[in-house]
Amino acid sequence: MPDRSSASRRTILRGAALAPAAALVPAAGLGLAACSPTGGTTAPATPTAPVELGADGEVAKGSAKLYRDHNVVVSRSASGELKAYSSVCTHAGCPINKLDGTTLICPCHGSEFDATTGAVVREPATVPLSELSVKAENGRIVVGPRA
Ligand code: FES
Repeated sequence: MPDRSSASRRTILRGAALAPAAALVPAAGLGLAACSPTGGTTAPATPTAPVELGADGEVAKGSAKLYRDHNVVVSRSASGELKAYSSVCTHAGCPINKLDGTTLICPCHGSEFDATTGAVVREPATVPLSELSVKAENGRIVVGPRA
């Protein structure tokens, strides 16, 4: 009977492994439901006062970094110039949670934005991202509303 015992154990383990995945499905559904074009925004506002995001070295030349906790994307040009934009989608206000290279991808309806210019790369959004002020201060990246 060692085979049967082993099979039972495997069955139990397999069931335990599936349980957490099943528990996540409702949570994922709620997240999507919060981002409807008619339902308004659930995204927290971007900084209304200067806020420190992280070390200056976090954003390499020619790259971008998404700071999801602050709904801000920061990019650095090949010449070293920093740019920052709100990462709240201009289509219906969803917080953008994906950055692929320097392209921001909205999870709600698939709009894409250039993180280095804020420009719309793919509709349905038609309005560019809001630009923020950004500077490196004492080795830290600081963003805030445009003056
Ligand atoms: Fe619709 Fe971003 S909220 S594409």
